[in-house]
Amino acid sequence: MTEAPKARPGGQGEYSLKGRVAVISGGSSGIGAATARRLAGAGAVVWVGYNTGADRAAALVASLPGSGHRPLHLPITDSAALGRAAAAVGAAHGHVDILVNSAAVTRAVRHDDLDALDDELFDRVLITNVRGPFATIRAFRPLLKASGDAVIINISSLAGLNGTGSSIVYGASKAALDVVGVSLARVLGPEIRVIGISPSAVATDFVPGRGLDAVERSAATAPLRIVTEADDIALAIFGAITTLRQTTGTTILVDAGKHL
Ligand SMILES: NC(=O)c1ccc[n+]([C@@H]2O[C@H](COP(=O)([O-])OP(=O)(O)OC[C@H]3O[C@@H](n4cnc5c(N)ncnc54)[C@H](OP(=O)(O)O)[C@@H]3O)[C@@H](O)[C@H]2O)c1
Repeated sequence: MTEAPKARPGGQGEYSLKGRVAVISGGSSGIGAATARRLAGAGAVVWVGYNTGADRAAALVASLPGSGHRPLHLPITDSAALGRAAAAVGAAHGHVDILVNSAAVTRAVRHDDLDALDDELFDRVLITNVRGPFATIRAFRPLLKASGDAVIINISSLAGLNGTGSSIVYGASKAALDVVGVSLARVLGPEIRVIGISPSAVATDFVPGRGLDAVERSAATAPLRIVTEADDIALAIFGAITTLRQTTGTTILVDAGKHL
């Protein structure tokens, strides 16, 4: 017999951000910081996750509209620390509505230079970009479930679809993250949606040594021919959270058509 559909409380219509509790890994810079601004601006209480950027996180928190925002030490390769972070948020709110996994690492390595892609970098990128978001979701799952109507946004990359990007292992890490998202979406419903957002090059300091000129050159070869700013991706995240109420287990390109 087919199981009767279980209703998600408030699972239809616009998702209001007023009073929602949001946690953002990599929240002190780039796309994570732009997302913190957008979510706080719409009434959410934002925990700005950081690893090395404690000062940046504190400064961002102080500048956000609204109240109750907090910096949160959220080193995504340290599962014990993730547990402590979840306990701190749980003690304050008892639940989490929005988890944005923005934290990741990379280093530029030419794809044809196989020797330069050493084991240390390979492991570091996979552990940070794949195990990291998974471990973060694992730590926050009880709080997300307690929300009853939660959403996880994984920041992926066009590189995970077509094997471009700063290095071979970076693209591989984002492809793996996409599949982790598909599997999790299957088991985390009906209380939790899981949505991936995949940009192409974004004008942030993410790739060490990459200047704005390189981002501009990349943008010039995409159909929309426009440089993507961190806030453009924050708006896409905002849209996915608030309007894609029937979407889970998929990754959406936000790449100015760069994949074409
Ligand atoms: N910029 C692009 O061209 C581009 C394109 C496609 C996808 N993306 C994706 O967008 C996301 C955000 O990148 P961004 O462009 O906003 O770059 P960014 O400003 O450099 O942000 C990266 C963030 O990751 C955090 N982080 C790194 N290692 C961490 C760890 N072990 N534990 C916790 N946090 C860690 C950093 O935190 P601390 O500074 O506190 O250490 C930093 O805030 C990433 O997932 C990236 O793969 C970026």
